[in-house]
Amino acid sequence: MNYKDYIRVIPDFPVAGISFKDITTLLQNGEMYKKAIDDIKAMVSHLQIDVIAGPEARGFVVGAPLAYALGVGFAPIRKSGKLPYETIEVGYDLEYGKDKLAMHTDAIKKGQNVLIADDLLATGGTISTSVNLVNQLGGNVVGAAFMIELEALKGRDKLPGVEVFSLMSYE
Ligand code: PRP
Repeated sequence: MNYKDYIRVIPDFPVAGISFKDITTLLQNGEMYKKAIDDIKAMVSHLQIDVIAGPEARGFVVGAPLAYALGVGFAPIRKSGKLPYETIEVGYDLEYGKDKLAMHTDAIKKGQNVLIADDLLATGGTISTSVNLVNQLGGNVVGAAFMIELEALKGRDKLPGVEVFSLMSYE
């Protein structure tokens, strides 16, 4: 069994030059989706985790079932303008584009240990911004977990001091 057999690679999506790693082909296989979440859970089992934080939209697909499996809460990290209560926001550059990410001011309590979860680590812009948001709220980021890591984009370099876990990596 190789996780990569379940990832569909789409050239030039959403823009020319991007090789998009489509996880929907993994998600549609219940056994593989469950195994992916169980394997990430095992990779982070040595950590003390109070809350999972995940950026929309694909971070929800990884972070929410992981939170359920660990029996901890889930804090959504959303694009600007989506959260209804008081928020903090941080701007960031994406692999393709720019945006702002936001969290509710009460999403993380001071001193809580937070694992950030997403489907994919590319440039690290999304996750370094997520780390910034969690830190601003007083949380401690104890790790960041992904299904996929694109090693050539060196996202890890944007996450100094954060333990990074991934199920599979691409050059
Ligand atoms: C994608 C992906 C990660 C991020 C990775 O999300 O799901 O969150 O980009 O790129 P980075 O490491 O260069 O920041 P996207 O912003 O496209 O949002 P989506 O999940 O809502 O499609």
